[in-house]
Formats: sequence, C-alpha cells, structure tokens
Amino acid sequence: METKTEAPVSTIVELGKHEGQPVTIRGWLYNLRESGKLLFPIFRDGTGFIQGVIPKNAVSPEMFESVKTLTQESSVVVRGVVRADKRAKGGFELDVQDVEIISRVPESDPYPISLKDHGVEFLMENRHLWVRSPRQVAILRLRAEIIKAARDFFDDRGFTLTDPPILTPAACEGTTTLFEVDYFDDLAYLTQSGQLYIEATAMALGKVYSFGPTFRAEKSKTRRHLTEFWMVEPEVAYAQLDDIMALAEQFISFIVQRCLDRRRPELETTGRDITKLENVKPPFPRITYDEAVSILQEGHAKGALETRFEWGGDFGSPDETYLSSQFDRPVMVHRYPAAIKAFYMEPDPKRPELALCLDVLAPEGYGEIIGGSQRIGSYEALQQRIRDHQLPEDAFKWYLDLRKYGGVPHAGFGMGIERAVAWICALEHVRETIPFARMLNKIYP
Ligand code: 4AD
Ligand code: MG
Repeated sequence: METKTEAPVSTIVELGKHEGQPVTIRGWLYNLRESGKLLFPIFRDGTGFIQGVIPKNAVSPEMFESVKTLTQESSVVVRGVVRADKRAKGGFELDVQDVEIISRVPESDPYPISLKDHGVEFLMENRHLWVRSPRQVAILRLRAEIIKAARDFFDDRGFTLTDPPILTPAACEGTTTLFEVDYFDDLAYLTQSGQLYIEATAMALGKVYSFGPTFRAEKSKTRRHLTEFWMVEPEVAYAQLDDIMALAEQFISFIVQRCLDRRRPELETTGRDITKLENVKPPFPRITYDEAVSILQEGHAKGALETRFEWGGDFGSPDETYLSSQFDRPVMVHRYPAAIKAFYMEPDPKRPELALCLDVLAPEGYGEIIGGSQRIGSYEALQQRIRDHQLPEDAFKWYLDLRKYGGVPHAGFGMGIERAVAWICALEHVRETIPFARMLNKIYP
C-alpha cells in the first residue's frame, strides 16, 4: 500500500508534469507488442495513450508472464516512472514497475473490436464498445467542444437559456415526421423543434436560446438524417432576417474557431483537412433562392447535375452539394418559396410568394446545417396559415396569443449539432457524431 501512495495518480494527458517521477495510471490495455525480452504494452485511459516498457529482468517472472498474456481492453492500474522520449507519440514513455489487473478479458471470448478494420454494420452493433476507439473518442470530444462553444456563444452575448418541453400537443415542422406518444389517453408528440416555445420566452426575455433533443420520424435512410438529434436554437425579439443571418455567420465562425483553438489534435485524429476550416470566417456568401436556382440550372447545362432543377422545388442532397461546392465557406441561401417551407415563416413583403428564411449550407458537400426565418407577425395571417396547413387550431391558441399581446417582429434559427459535427470532423455519416445514433431501423444498443 505504502509504495502506491508514493506514486500519485495521473491521467495520461498530464503525464508530462511528472517527468522522472513514479506515477499511477488507471485505464485499459489498448495493444501489446513483444520484442525479445521486452514488452511494450500501450495503455489508454480516455485522456490519451502511453506506451509502457517492461524489460523481462525488471519485474518478477509472474508479472512478466501475466502482462505478456494480457488481452486487449483488460482494465489495469499501472505504476511506473515517466520518461521523456522524443520518438514517442505524446513525447513520453512509461517504465512500468507494476501492473495490477482489475478485470482480465478472457482469451476464449476476446474483445470483439480488434485493431484491424471492421465493417460499419458490425461497429454500429457494437457501438457501446466502438466508442472506445481513438477516432470515436476524438469525435466525441469535438462534439462536446462544439456544444460548449454554442452555449458560450449565446451565454456571452446576452441570451438566456430557456428549455422548451419535449412532450408537445402539436407539430412544429410538418405533420409527416411526428413521433406519437400516448399521453394519459391523449395523443401527444415528441418535439420536432423548440422554436414555438422559445418564441414565447423571447417575448419575456428578449434574447433566448434552447438546446435539447428533438425528434423526427424520418423514414429515409440518408447520411444526414437521424430520428433523434440535438438542436440549438436562438430566438430574438425585434430581430429581422438580416439580423439572424449576421448572427448565424458569427455563430458558425465562432464554433469552428473554438475547435481550431482547442481541439486541433482531435481534428487531426479524425483526418480533417484543417486548412479548409481556417477559411470559415465572416462574411459568408449570401445568395437568394432564385440565384441558387440559376446556379443549379447552369450546373445542369454544364453536365455537372443529372436533372434540371425547376424553380419552386426544394433542394435535394445533390443540389445542396453542388451549391456548396461553389464556395470555400458556408453559403447562406435566403428567401425560398413559402410553399416549401414551414407555416410560421413571415412572407417577403416585396414578393409574398417567398418566405423571409435562410438555410446555411456547409461546404464540402455537407448540406444544410442551419434553418431559420423571421416569424410571421400578423395574427390573421398566422391563423390563415394554421388553417391552410390543416393544423389543429386549438393546440395553437397560445401561439396565436403571442401575436395578440404585444407582437413584434422576431426571428431565429436552429442548428443541428450532429450536422455541424459531421461537417467539422469531415465524417461520411451522422451516425458517428452522437454516442448512440437513432435512425430508421436503428435503436440498439
Ligand atoms: O430546418 P429545420 O427543420 O428548422 C427548424 O426546426 C426550425 N424550427 C429551427 C428554428 O428556426 N428555430 O431544422 C433545423 C436544423 C437543420 O438545419 C439541421 O441542421 C437539423 O436541424 N436537422 C436534422 N439533423 C439531423 N437529423 C435530422 N433528421 C434533422 N432535421 C433537421
Ligand atoms: Mg430545414
């Protein structure tokens, strides 16, 4: 016991502070190499990786044998002396003196995820273990950093966090993707967006935001859609479309800069081309939907797009990919036809068939990461929209009240955290952006 107190516990990331001294690290065996009379176990503890060195004559024969046969992902408490080594990845190695095995993975039933490549299906079935892999650890750290940055951005600019309900009586983003819940014999739905509720809190507090899980029964299998995802949504009283366009470009630039400042090693682990992120600074290009349609039609004429895009349609993935590939930073597309957008958007007074809305498309083919708009101001116009969209008027009575009692122009947007993580980490699919993805046909583990 006494010798152990002489070796204070350290995380691997902080081993540099203990150079030349004995330390204790607590983690798991990541890999083991053997070379003649030397063992080179690599340990991980969640904060990093460290290679240990065990010469045969430096420990007891029992210990040498015990480590020599140690299996991947066995949990261990290791004591050793930290030694600077220029060739080592983190700059240090550990001269191991003692390895206490907490739980040995049986040789007969080894850890299923070896260091060789596995198929994604298999990895997703073993997601509870896959999260331990270095690349997944880096992605989850970046996700946490992006969430922290999003919150800091709003907290530091006079926004108040207000949490909307998750169980709701009505739809926010169309009735085709609602998850139904039996609410004491009444029908309720899992929220698709907190927006309608933070419009109410914005009238109370001025500048608000929400951050929480949102749900959409998306029946399509795409690399951008989850059925459960996290959204951060600011809402600002007295703001108009231009104000939230400026807010959106500041917000995205802030998040990217934060990842560059604080999470460069993690970005490198994901294989991200960092120079592309360095371009992400305001101002972002702004184009109207009409201009976007022209770009798409030219793209078709040049043979870059298979089908000709017709005015009035919503952009599909290939369209968004083509549009965003024209720019080196996110592009803001504004004023879409009202007919393809949500019921609550303010019409453009100059062309009422258009909505005062924006979508931000991320570069490199990542598509829409932000959707937002100015909200409809007139009581009568909103009531008509609710009727046109065949929404239950009773459930929206409170929402209409916001126009009746001191209505003001207001606007906001929502950013899907997973879409942002996929783009910032340059991931093929959103399934790796969240610890446990929920998708069509995917609810295990
Ligand atoms: O464009 P959406 O549907 O907008 C809203 O929900 C508004 N009520 C937001 C607001 O104005 N306050 O969704 C906003 C963002 C999208 O741009 C996308 O990043 C993400 O949410 N998103 C999804 N992410 C993953 N899986 C899905 N199925 C998503 N649907 C939307
Ligand atoms: Mg959208």
